[in-house]
Amino acid sequence: MIKSPLQIARESYAPKLPKALKGSVKIVEGKETESVADQADIKAMFPNTYGMPLLTFEPGEAAPTAARNVGVILSGGQAPGGHNVISGIYDGLKKLNPDNKLYGFLGGPGGLVDNEYVELTAEIVDHYRNTGGFDIIGSGRTKLEEEEQFEKALVNCKALDITALVIIGGDDSNTNACVLAEYYKNKAAGVQVIGVPKTIDGDLKNEMIETSFGFDTACKVYSELIGNIQRDANSAKKYWHFIKLMGRSASHIGLECALQTQPNICIISEEVEAKQQTLDDVVTYIAEAVAKRAANGSNFGTVLIPEGLVEFIPAMKALIAELNDLLAHNEEKVNALEGNKEKREFVAELLSADSREVFVSLPNSIANQLMADRDPHGNVQVSLIETEKMLIDMVKAKLKGWKKEGKFVGKFSGQAHFFGYEGRCAAPSNFDADYCYSLGTTASVLIAEGKTGYMASVRNLTASSDEWIAGGVPVTMMMNMEKRHGEMKPVIQKALVRLDGAPYKKFVEQREDWAINTKYVYPGPIQYFGPSEVCDITTKTLQYEQA
Ligand code: FBP
Repeated sequence: MIKSPLQIARESYAPKLPKALKGSVKIVEGKETESVADQADIKAMFPNTYGMPLLTFEPGEAAPTAARNVGVILSGGQAPGGHNVISGIYDGLKKLNPDNKLYGFLGGPGGLVDNEYVELTAEIVDHYRNTGGFDIIGSGRTKLEEEEQFEKALVNCKALDITALVIIGGDDSNTNACVLAEYYKNKAAGVQVIGVPKTIDGDLKNEMIETSFGFDTACKVYSELIGNIQRDANSAKKYWHFIKLMGRSASHIGLECALQTQPNICIISEEVEAKQQTLDDVVTYIAEAVAKRAANGSNFGTVLIPEGLVEFIPAMKALIAELNDLLAHNEEKVNALEGNKEKREFVAELLSADSREVFVSLPNSIANQLMADRDPHGNVQVSLIETEKMLIDMVKAKLKGWKKEGKFVGKFSGQAHFFGYEGRCAAPSNFDADYCYSLGTTASVLIAEGKTGYMASVRNLTASSDEWIAGGVPVTMMMNMEKRHGEMKPVIQKALVRLDGAPYKKFVEQREDWAINTKYVYPGPIQYFGPSEVCDITTKTLQYEQA
């Protein structure tokens, strides 16, 4: 591997740990827990892992532990800091007993089922410290949910004498990790399962999980890029930049980037849904800001669009739900049709009258994208839907009409951008490097203490890392029942942007000013070396939430 100078310099960065994780650890049990909702259902489904107590770590005495073998899996989309979770687990295990071994299953959960693995040695782990990416062992989106997979995984664990697994993933992967923990505990299989909260989307969070790792770095990368574009817009004064930002459902990334960069407009999907807005409402809102700025002589601006927007527009949501169903039942017939035009016509005929009206009103490119393949979890692949281009076209058409009526006097020229992959594998910020290493170390302690069905938790994150609180949260505590593919299932509750939350309120207080006036902020690139107030501060979302 050829390393860049930054990579070489970052190799020697020693991630900061909370006080409680620096030496030996004592576990303090808190009160017993309940799931966030549907307690009776969740309890019945998880008789062995429901109601376990919260765990907090404190400095304690070292107790000798027998040598263990542990497996680790990276699941789902990449997020900055994954390598530090692994180095944290590795160092934590070696500190507990130098004979402990760590195996990495390759390519995500599929590697566990298919028995593809590598033993992670110091030589391997050292190459990946403080680097972005998941390439140390790769990741994948195979869903671990069938009994047959659990059994195969168990055979593979037994063959390697693995007695604990760490699953690093988002809400779906951690839900599956909990089902696996329950299954193994129920049959006394002798394999513990511990989860770690990962996703740049920031939607795996609750009272005990303040943020998922990777959100901090990804938002900082996108904010740097948005800031650069804003500076260009303010220099050239001729383009409106429509910037779509990753985040499959929730708008946390868009909101954080807006708080960092103060764009003219940022659409929040959760607000669109709450206000029951139509696509035309969203287009009108943007066009009005364009017209107002044009009246002041500013024919430029920036619009942030969350990736998941189309799924939050109620009429589009209903259309997508119908399409999911309809395409699942008519897959062969649709695939047998030659061109997209034929497919669209066939599908349109089968839709309800309301959804048909929306479907036929969409630009062909968007209608085609809505008919495209679903991901393994049955979700529309929102990152493939070019909402940013669709909105440019629709705003342009509206402004053309207004120009004729004399309601718009100016120019409108749109530029489309999509930021997602640019941030998912960035070198972790100091915050993510420290947070991930702490999460990994926490996971190693939970394993040593024989825990299963827990997620590693590190809290109090706006304080200095010394004061962070590490421990474990029973995964069942975060669960509720939701309808998935027509069936009620226990799942970790997804955290959407709260319209009564401090970050959103802060945004609303300022957005009218940002829309009309040019109040851009240019955050610049992530800094890894230098004063703490530049290098170590975390997201505005966390700062406002914890203020
Ligand atoms: P996870 O939820 O698995 O962390 O993935 C997040 C994400 O980056 C979303 O923001 C995006 O919609 C999706 O992954 C894209 O995934 P893929 O690259 O597999 O299409």
